[in-house]
Amino acid sequence: MDSINVTGGGALNGEIPIAGAKNACLALMPATLLSAEPLTLTNAPRLSDIKTMTDLLQSLGAEVSSLDEGRVLVLSSHNADNPLAHYDIVRKMRASNLVLGPLLARHGKAIVSLPGGCAIGARPMDIHVTAFEAMGAVIELKDGYLHADAPNGLKGAVIDFHFASVGATENVMMAATLAKGTTIINNAAREPEIVDLADCLRRMGAQITGDGTSSITIEGVESLHGATHPVVTDRIELGTYMLAPAFAGGEVELIGGRIDLLQAFVDKLDQIGVDVTETKRGLKVKRRGDTLKAVDIVTEPFPGFPTDLQAQMMALLCTAEGTSVLEEKIFENRFMHAPELTRMGASIEVQGGHATVTGVKKLKGAPVMATDLRASVSLILAGLAAEGETKISRVYHLDRGYEHVVAKLRGVGAQIERIKE
Ligand code: EPZ
Repeated sequence: MDSINVTGGGALNGEIPIAGAKNACLALMPATLLSAEPLTLTNAPRLSDIKTMTDLLQSLGAEVSSLDEGRVLVLSSHNADNPLAHYDIVRKMRASNLVLGPLLARHGKAIVSLPGGCAIGARPMDIHVTAFEAMGAVIELKDGYLHADAPNGLKGAVIDFHFASVGATENVMMAATLAKGTTIINNAAREPEIVDLADCLRRMGAQITGDGTSSITIEGVESLHGATHPVVTDRIELGTYMLAPAFAGGEVELIGGRIDLLQAFVDKLDQIGVDVTETKRGLKVKRRGDTLKAVDIVTEPFPGFPTDLQAQMMALLCTAEGTSVLEEKIFENRFMHAPELTRMGASIEVQGGHATVTGVKKLKGAPVMATDLRASVSLILAGLAAEGETKISRVYHLDRGYEHVVAKLRGVGAQIERIKE
């Protein structure tokens, strides 16, 4: 398993290109199942999760080809006649569950393995199941698989989510495009990836309004046609790299960055003492002075502070002046980066869903271990400003969500290398 060595050192200067959003692309790809015509996605990120979704869709009978070194994906499902999503693929990635809605809409049947828990939580699917039952599907759990049947097709329904689940909003929105009648999702997730999926489905002929708000209305149509759609910028990769100059000093421009994708995050950076300015090509970020101020963070559904940037922000606050309290309200076990940061000299106390960080002067490089995708990148960021060398093991987690992270950070002057082991 490869590792990454980072040596803390000087300021970072230059520019980092931001890729298409992993979490948008993973929802856009299954939309191919809703049409017999090709769906082309441009600005696709080159990530192992995209490969996993490709494998899954191909196992369902879809054809997926990638052009322009993986930046363009051409998906075609006219021969996709297999409704079974096998555990061997689904267990690798929770987002595999996003084929449930499209399979139900296409075949009137779906057999999808439960993804099982992952490092950050149990991640059940009750919100998805309840919604599809309201749309007329009969769903049974057998041998770890969800067996869903809607022999007469899905029908529109008014659906009230008890939690603004991103995946459930995407799954139901996709299925509802071909249901009979009108579907309304109340307490829908409002993430930019939801709006991007709705934009793509509209290009395919779907009738969707209200995406980006808590109430989404979908008028079912007979069929959807093919389309070409650009994947929206990855706001989590963007936020991650915005922190690089906040840790190390200097000024970095994030090409393709948009403030509207992460306003709550930018507001917190302003309170901490990091300036973000919009440029013609994206966003420029630099520290206001030598010290950073402690702030409190609560993770919430969009437009609140994103849970996927909590680990990265915790790492930054380890050397801020004062005490910060981070409350993780989305996942039940998303502080696994804390003990690793403590190995670097951070002072963090975790109690249930709260982590209290007391700022220290400087972190010290140390051997640490990546535990999940976002935790792994928070350790790299911490290494950028730590004294000495930090060696991060199990970096395969990184490859799931960050393309070319070593090249992007070296491009702005970081002392970082990947060791093949
Ligand atoms: C999406 O996961 C993202 N993944 C996650 O990003 C992100 O952290 C999450 O949304 C929250 O923003 C993709 O888009 C592929 P949820 P998803 O359904 O859809 C509970 C990353 O690092 N829940 O909004 O699975 C669930 O257990 C990943 O890129 C139920 O209880 O998130 C969790 O505690 C990590 N029942 C909370 O809701 C359900 O039926 C949020 O889940 C569904 C969810």
